[in-house]
Amino acid sequence: MSELMEMLIRRGFLWQSFEIYGGMAGFIDYGPLGNGLRRRLENLWREFFVINERAVEIDTPTVNVEEVFIASGHAESFTDVAIECKKCGKVFRADHYIKEKLNIEADCTIEAVKEIIEIYGLKCDCGGEFGEPFHFNLMFTTSIGPGKGKRGYLRPETAQGIFIAFKRLLDYFRGKLPFGVAQIGRAYRNEISPRQGVIRLREFNQAELEFFVHPAEKTHPQFKRYENEVVRLVDKFDNEHEITLREAVERGIIAHELLAYFIGKTKRFLIEAGVDEKRLRFRQHKDDEKAHYAADCWDAEALTSYGWIEIVGIADRTDYDLKRHMEHSGEDLRVFVQFKEPIKVKKLKIVPDLKKLGPVFRKKAKAIAEALERMDVKDANVEKVEVEVDGEKIEVSRDFFSIEEVEETIQGEKIIPHVIEPSFGLDRITYVILEHSFDKDVVDGEERKVLRLKRWMAPVQVAVLPLLSKEEFERVALEIVEMLRNAGIYTEYDDSGSIGRRYRRFDEIGTPFCVTIDHQTFEDRTVTIRDRDTTKQVRVKIDELVNVLKELLSSEKDITEFGEVFRG
Ligand code: GLY
Repeated sequence: MSELMEMLIRRGFLWQSFEIYGGMAGFIDYGPLGNGLRRRLENLWREFFVINERAVEIDTPTVNVEEVFIASGHAESFTDVAIECKKCGKVFRADHYIKEKLNIEADCTIEAVKEIIEIYGLKCDCGGEFGEPFHFNLMFTTSIGPGKGKRGYLRPETAQGIFIAFKRLLDYFRGKLPFGVAQIGRAYRNEISPRQGVIRLREFNQAELEFFVHPAEKTHPQFKRYENEVVRLVDKFDNEHEITLREAVERGIIAHELLAYFIGKTKRFLIEAGVDEKRLRFRQHKDDEKAHYAADCWDAEALTSYGWIEIVGIADRTDYDLKRHMEHSGEDLRVFVQFKEPIKVKKLKIVPDLKKLGPVFRKKAKAIAEALERMDVKDANVEKVEVEVDGEKIEVSRDFFSIEEVEETIQGEKIIPHVIEPSFGLDRITYVILEHSFDKDVVDGEERKVLRLKRWMAPVQVAVLPLLSKEEFERVALEIVEMLRNAGIYTEYDDSGSIGRRYRRFDEIGTPFCVTIDHQTFEDRTVTIRDRDTTKQVRVKIDELVNVLKELLSSEKDITEFGEVFRG
């Protein structure tokens, strides 16, 4: 186990779920500190991708009826190729097993896996042979209601809940594109053999934004904010670029401004959250790697002890999902888009001859005439047409109508919007932040473990420590704890062990500031604030403490701007 993982478990960031029953791969519990950190990440995400956009957040069920995933294509295509050992019965995800044993990046097709097993004589760790590779669907199935019930699935992505509610969401936005709809919540994938600890989970947390746009307008009014951002890109041909987003769009490396906008915004968000810029890149999916719904996709990848791992996918899903749900539900999910200027078009129109229709079709004549008027006709010389009246199909010959060319004014058209989707794996990002923040240095001649979290991300923001375990020190310390908690600052109190030990304890979990009550507190109502990263201390009046800490916690300002440097 890595030193970091040992610390995360010991200090209560996270641990394996179902521990007392032997655990189960692919599930973790977030302990108090890990949960706090992930919640902070969610709030930062909300600021970037909901509050800062024309976007809203919704919350839809994690259990879905099967129709949703038949329409979305997941029931058919959301699979990995698996191999099962004929001797010990162990099942592996084929591409992972091949990479681990042969260091080959295998295509994820049955044929490719079969060929590699044959050519290399690949066997199971137990020496057994593998049977035929097979497709394994990654969705968890469930049954809704008693008895045989109705088949349901646990959602493998939050996105579908947004697509199927599209009509209501369009109404919410008064029918106007572009708009975004976000969802933060659990998603589930029944991974075949997850062995990468917190990286490959069967139940995980996603934050997804579905940004609906006119297919011909894949840009963003705020693109200027990010156009000069220099990004590290690896394109689908494995070429590396370190260029601005503007240049990447101009050179056709990134297909359009909207994808580039979200790549820029994602980069800024990840850095703000604590991902190290030097260990961050964006990699384009190769053509055979893309999800079944994606026309183009860029992953944000972070370099970790597991290698480069995907932490965000930014996909152009085109009109794939809305079109599929239209076909399967029969609902019209198109958007009426008004033209800037109405346009005039020439059109053929059927003009019924009521005088002739009446005697022949009698009571039905009026309904037939109305049906004829509603018909679209392309050929001016058509000899007969068929109309349906009260469920009856009636053939009407040319004797009963004429065809005229008319000019019509058209105000707009109905289109199926396209969707650009930045999709964030919150668990992986949380882990990356922890790995990128974990550091060691030497303080007072002794090695120190320190988690250099961004101040605003720390699950415990301030620790209040009485220098001595005496009643009067503890009383003032507890008053300060209450004051800080009332001001909305996540605060802990600790009076056990030497002050040096206590500082180390809070350095290890990333608490940016420790407030200490010492002898001088009783002379001038001041306390010290100690900075985690520099270990510098300043003296501050208790009356000013809340304001000073709030300013420090929301900025990267140096602590020495806020008080006289104190050497205790
Ligand atoms: N919605 C994209 C994904 O779940 O991967």
